[in-house]
Amino acid sequence: MCGIIGYVGNENAVPIIVDGLKKLEYRGYDSAGIAVYGESGLFDVVKQKGRLAALEDKLSGFAVKGIMGIGHTRWATHGEPSDANSHPHLGTGGKIAVVHNGIIENYKQLKEYLLKKGICFASQTDSEVIAQLAEYYYNGDIMETIIKVANRLEGSYALGIMCTDDPDRLIAIKKDNPLIIGVSEHGSFIASDVPAVLKHTNRVYYLGDKEIAVLKKDSVSFYNIDREPIEKTLERITWSAGSAEKGGYEHFMLKEIMEQPKVLRDTIASALNSGENKTVIDKLEIERYNKIVITACGSAYNAGFAAKYIFERLCRFPSVEVELASEFRYKDAVIDSKTLVILISQSGETADTIAAMREAKSKGSDTLSIVNVVGSTIAKEADYCLFTAAGPEIAVATTKAFSTQLVLLYILAIRFAARLGRITPEYERELSHQITTLPDKAAQILEQIDFIQKYASESVGSKSIFFIGRNIDYAIALEGSLKLKEISYIHSEAYAGGELKHGTISLIEEETLVVALSNCPSLYGKIMSNIEQVISRGAKVLMIGNQPKIKSDGKLSHIPLPEICELFSPSLSVIVMQLFSYYTAANKGLDIDKPRNLAKSVTVE
Ligand code: F6R
Repeated sequence: MCGIIGYVGNENAVPIIVDGLKKLEYRGYDSAGIAVYGESGLFDVVKQKGRLAALEDKLSGFAVKGIMGIGHTRWATHGEPSDANSHPHLGTGGKIAVVHNGIIENYKQLKEYLLKKGICFASQTDSEVIAQLAEYYYNGDIMETIIKVANRLEGSYALGIMCTDDPDRLIAIKKDNPLIIGVSEHGSFIASDVPAVLKHTNRVYYLGDKEIAVLKKDSVSFYNIDREPIEKTLERITWSAGSAEKGGYEHFMLKEIMEQPKVLRDTIASALNSGENKTVIDKLEIERYNKIVITACGSAYNAGFAAKYIFERLCRFPSVEVELASEFRYKDAVIDSKTLVILISQSGETADTIAAMREAKSKGSDTLSIVNVVGSTIAKEADYCLFTAAGPEIAVATTKAFSTQLVLLYILAIRFAARLGRITPEYERELSHQITTLPDKAAQILEQIDFIQKYASESVGSKSIFFIGRNIDYAIALEGSLKLKEISYIHSEAYAGGELKHGTISLIEEETLVVALSNCPSLYGKIMSNIEQVISRGAKVLMIGNQPKIKSDGKLSHIPLPEICELFSPSLSVIVMQLFSYYTAANKGLDIDKPRNLAKSVTVE
């Protein structure tokens, strides 16, 4: 939530910062702002409520220029979206400018303290206290000041700080929120995420908690909170600059859906026969555990929920639990050193999932993470980490990262089952082979999007859309429903087919759309009965699945899927549901990549 960027170098900071903010807009987009150290020796600040485009418009009316600056794109937590609440925030004297990602939990106490000293505040935000406190403490030594401020802050923060007395030094510090430091030929950067700097460099440092970075145009130095110099390793990012661009698609979401065959192939290659993920999987001693707990949020939770069916079916493991990270962290879970806790997170920065991981570790459990962003908190802190090779995912609604999480979970379940002797080597080979066919089958679906597109255009007026399935189809129905509601704003619920008649069927009316998934051969008859039950109450049904002999007819339409073992069918049905959601939202003319009220990286509780 919230994205920050900063630059000090030889070039004009303004276009660099605005361009970087475009790559960070997925983190928050209710207002944005920029501060540049200008020729006057003061900060030029431009802030604007609304999307980044509104800030760009405003900037075009100002002659703002400078070789050092900071920028921010906001997801409001304290104080409504407004110009005044936008960052950067300045101290009253205009000496210190700050951008902040995170939440200052003790901001009320700090604000009261400063108000008593006669300091006036210009915003309702928690973040402004950082700038005001820094200016209050400032004694000519900005490093000392920042350390003093950091020692008083409770909560989470990634900060970019400039001081008018230091026109060539940009300072950064973080705790519990991500911050990378990039170095290029023409200058140095801070950013909340790698895509913001990829155009300029692929060489970055990952700042650790309570570490301070001092950036100059041609050097970066690091210190701990006691101001002692520390060494950090420069890392090379393998993502290309193009991977963070739309590449001709109207939305990042469609581009990312289309990338799925490739990223599935890359992820499978890294885990099945050779590669870093395989090495990690081989190290895991599943025999040591008597319980697996999978915990995550949102779509990542849905991937875990689907995996539960597979772990149970293949490994016959006594206990596989799936928990929402926001619940798990506070429930005093019954886990110990014989529990393997699996954390799933695209960003690796979701606050609840981080807290769940730390809770699991504090109880002596081993933690295995499945993460997309290298260098993220969860990737670094978990005992074991598998990386999804999804590349940067920019659209707020996850698609390709979700799909790569699923295949890693499949491969993990197969390996565990084989190690536990629950499946024969022949069956292991057969299942592994089935997985290698997924990318081509995903590509087949993507070649036939016309019908999905047409169907979606007819569903635009729906008030409510239900998703049903049984067994693993139910698990993936949850993801279909989440995808639809988050980007199309159409109310949607997912139900286990057999559960509908216990209450929810009362919501079915004439023309209500029900999406029914049917990929489990032993349950074809059962899901057909559920379909008949809703059709006889007026619903129209879109069936997605590889159930043979079904023909579209009257109230029933069918999208067939390539044949695949039912356990891995979620990887195919989810693509149809992603496309269905995408085209429904596109037909409504919505801002698909940045749905209202959401942000991609949920770094607050
Ligand atoms: C939905 C979506 C979210 C995320 C959730 C967890 O499309 O993207 O539900 O799955 O916020 O985020 P990560 O995976 O970054 O922990």
